[in-house]
Amino acid sequence: MRRTTGIALLAGGIGAAAAQPFPAAGTLTPQQLQGRNLFNQSCMVCHVKLQITSPAKYGPDLSGKALGGDEALMREVISNGTPNMPGFKYHFEPDQIDAIVAYLKALPAPAPSPSPPR
Ligand code: HEC
Repeated sequence: MRRTTGIALLAGGIGAAAAQPFPAAGTLTPQQLQGRNLFNQSCMVCHVKLQITSPAKYGPDLSGKALGGDEALMREVISNGTPNMPGFKYHFEPDQIDAIVAYLKALPAPAPSPSPPR
């Protein structure tokens, strides 16, 4: 009983730390939750800086404002990739890409960085 509680608290702590910049699970629709899972599996590695000690991100921060908030363009970039990003059209079904786009739309734009642009 005690041990279970400890593990649950620990897991909660890790989840909370990693999920901080993201909307709480309870505010997401089932489609956005599906998109979040796919995003965490396939996109986070390049698009999210998980810890202060992580090396610089490879891709830009993503939010509902990415690509001017244009959902069709987001689908296009995710499907076909860019010179520096792999395309996912053979990896995901169209409804999975829709779910990822729905999740991206739920992400708030990051606060402007105080450091000068690279
Ligand atoms: C291998 C690293 C990598 C992975 C994995 C990756 N991306 Fe990217 N992504 C990039 C880079 C780098 C860019 C910047 C465009 C460029 O330089 O070509 C980018 C750009 C984007 C953009 C356009 C952002 C903008 O403001 O221009 C979107 C949207 C995007 N990625 C979504 C995704 C999604 C969704 C996934 C997962 C399905 C994903 N990316 C996986 C590296 C990656």
